[in-house]
Amino acid sequence: QKKMILDLDTGIDDALAIAYALASEEVDLIGITSTYGNVVTTQAGQNSLRILELLGRTDIPVYLGLPHATTTDHFDVMQVSQDIHGVNGIGEVALPQAQRAVEKTTAVDFMIAAARQYGDNLIIVPTGPMTNLAAALAQAPELTELVGNVTFMGGALTVPGNVTEVGEANINQDPAAADQVLRSRFKLTMVGLDVTLRTLLTKHETQLWRQLGTKSSLAFANIVDYYIDAYAALNPQLHGCALHDPLAVGVALDPSLVQTIGLNMKVETTAPFAARTVGDVDRLNAPTTNVQVAVNVDAPAYLQRFMHRLTALFAQ
Ligand code: BDR
Ligand code: CA
Repeated sequence: QKKMILDLDTGIDDALAIAYALASEEVDLIGITSTYGNVVTTQAGQNSLRILELLGRTDIPVYLGLPHATTTDHFDVMQVSQDIHGVNGIGEVALPQAQRAVEKTTAVDFMIAAARQYGDNLIIVPTGPMTNLAAALAQAPELTELVGNVTFMGGALTVPGNVTEVGEANINQDPAAADQVLRSRFKLTMVGLDVTLRTLLTKHETQLWRQLGTKSSLAFANIVDYYIDAYAALNPQLHGCALHDPLAVGVALDPSLVQTIGLNMKVETTAPFAARTVGDVDRLNAPTTNVQVAVNVDAPAYLQRFMHRLTALFAQ
């Protein structure tokens, strides 16, 4: 069984990433680290604790990560994040206060310790800004040789950004951190807007959850309907909400769901193209590539697996 760490700015699709990981027997979710983005880091931690409690998995530890990019001294949640995920990050659904707290160990220390313990068997899945992973890398450069794979949700190669012309939200929060990770020796898989915007969920599916009538199925149906309504208002051309973060988990567990191209990538860190994920011209002729960039996805196969797994989880 593979070991997995989810690094989340929990967020509605981040919550779906937790559910997908817990519903997947081939992986052992050993911890959730929190980052900022859809909400502030502390709220992301609280949301992860609440989702875990809703799903009956209070055995999984949650660690607090860094509160903002190292290039700034504060973080404010963007209006568009509040519009998509709600002010509380989980569609304004009031889940009960978690009965336990986050761990004392920091997210960065946990990532480093887990890499040393599990090595190649460990997959790290960041679905928010990569501030925590970049900090772990700076502190322990050997992580790149230890960790099996880093499969991140972020970036856009063949399509425009979703918060700026070229910037995808997660990369845009901390382009420098993403650049450090992309230009490192980590074995990386990029699950960006190129594929996540083709993997859509509708109210047809949330209605199937609702019919299960369990606590978790009803809560998730309400949370995700908020996200579907927000997507309909902001992206009417899509006909559904994008399964960004759970797709990253799906691809981490089964890379055959996507077609990838191997590239050496970097992130632009200065205007006018800040946050653009692009091929690194300095490594164009390098003999190897370190990023598998997903450019196509078998969306029907993924959706079927997603529904099969989440329905089974919510039915419990
Ligand atoms: C990404 O940004 C966040 O709002 C979502 O949770 C997802 O990780 C999509 O650009
Ligand atoms: Ca996210």
